[in-house]
Amino acid sequence: MSRLELIATAAFGLEAIVSRELSDLGYTEQTVEDGRVCFVADELAICRCNLWLRAADRVLIKVGSFLATNFDELFQGVTELAWPEWLPFDAKFPVSGKSVRSQLHNEPSIQGVTKKAIVECLKKTYQRHWFDENGAEYPIEVSILKDRVTLSIDTSGVGLHKRGYRPEVAAAPLRETTAAALVLLSYWGRERPFLDPFCGSGTIPIEAALIARNRAPGTNRGFQCDQWGQISRDHWKQAREETRDKQLPKPRYTLQASDIDGKVVSLAKRNAFEAGVADDIDFKKLDVLELKTIRDYGCIITNPPYGERLGDDDSAAAIYDDMADAFAPFTTWSVYVLTSHPGFERFFRRQADRRRKMYAGRIECHYFQYYGPRPPGEPPLEDLWNFFPILRLDRLFPAASIPWLCRKQPQATSLRCLVLTCKLRWVVRCDWGYDDPTMRGNVAVSERTRYESGSQERRWPMRCLAPMCLRHVVPERTPSETLKKTLRDST
Ligand SMILES: C[S@@+](CC[C@H](N)C(=O)[O-])C[C@H]1O[C@@H](n2cnc3c(N)ncnc32)[C@H](O)[C@@H]1O
Repeated sequence: MSRLELIATAAFGLEAIVSRELSDLGYTEQTVEDGRVCFVADELAICRCNLWLRAADRVLIKVGSFLATNFDELFQGVTELAWPEWLPFDAKFPVSGKSVRSQLHNEPSIQGVTKKAIVECLKKTYQRHWFDENGAEYPIEVSILKDRVTLSIDTSGVGLHKRGYRPEVAAAPLRETTAAALVLLSYWGRERPFLDPFCGSGTIPIEAALIARNRAPGTNRGFQCDQWGQISRDHWKQAREETRDKQLPKPRYTLQASDIDGKVVSLAKRNAFEAGVADDIDFKKLDVLELKTIRDYGCIITNPPYGERLGDDDSAAAIYDDMADAFAPFTTWSVYVLTSHPGFERFFRRQADRRRKMYAGRIECHYFQYYGPRPPGEPPLEDLWNFFPILRLDRLFPAASIPWLCRKQPQATSLRCLVLTCKLRWVVRCDWGYDDPTMRGNVAVSERTRYESGSQERRWPMRCLAPMCLRHVVPERTPSETLKKTLRDST
């Protein structure tokens, strides 16, 4: 069972973020579909993905998939899958089902037939007629979309948005997964100031602080698959050790969060304490109109009232008008606002640079993004690029240590590569060199690729590449202080 098909489910609009998170974890063999990212990985990935994914709802094991237009075909298809590989003889396996645009649509019957078929399959393997189902639980999902049946087992149990730090919430809280996605979709990084002036229960600043610390969001919770015999204790140990090893120190700037409601601010402080980031966030009771900052080039990421859940439409419009005045002095900041209010841009008096459709619960929202200027002192990409020498691959890496790299460019003999995580979340350029004269005429640098945040092309585990390159680079010339700082920040 070393090669598994897994599924990370996600709210509509967050699939691309989950796909990026999976790539960052090194799982690049993916297919992105509505509400899910299917990927190929091993058993260790089940532990790592449950612990690390910030924007996904659950991690499922795909047991199989087939077409069925009647109950006989459904029964037959289910019995043919390898259930005994996952379900021990005492497994408890509740079945839930859903069907969309399919000939089989009666969900209780779909669940019943699936359950019977699994029992039939287990009977053959375990040579028994009755199963007590008093062991570990393996929740099974049968989902049918346009007559294609997919069977999966849920490894997460309680949804991954339940990080365990938010026992109480204020009115209209965002899901932790949505809050994390807002931060991941922005150009904010741990080296820039952060502000949420409508913080409510503190979900956005807490998720930002967890990201800044590179702390795995699932560290303080358990998962459905904890007790499953198929996932070895060693995998859990390794995955949990990794979460400890990868933590970063406190970021340079304390994150700022405020709300007009003092009770809500106390609650947010408690939640931050539970999440272990109380020292990283400065919470204040403040009307948005009282905002001040002495910092530049920060990011405001916020979720103001939008009428549907808190207050009414007119009061939301008045708040957006106040926001326009309150944010006016923040001339160098980027602003990101999630709201469902259709007139947001009009009342805020600015057209967004980018809008993205998302959901907060069942409410359709837009994420309005206003990009500020680039922080000065961040050297232009070209300068950094020229700073990197061309490196012989055989001297740079023992080939076997990075098989994905060698697979990608098997004939390449040299590489120049740059990864930044400052202004753009990712900027990567790779030039591959070939000695073979048939490969573009013996040129040292023959291919250039530029990958940017959100690009469909970004398929490699770039974060793995960056530190390797930076560690091995012997500078050809002395870098300036600014350049040194950027290189330090980018690793
Ligand atoms: C949609 S909620 C934010 C929810 C938050 N993202 C969470 O996950 O809990 C909006 C918040 O704006 C606050 N608020 C309303 N008017 C405000 C104002 N004029 N200045 C600052 N905060 C205000 C409310 O108290 C409420 O907590």
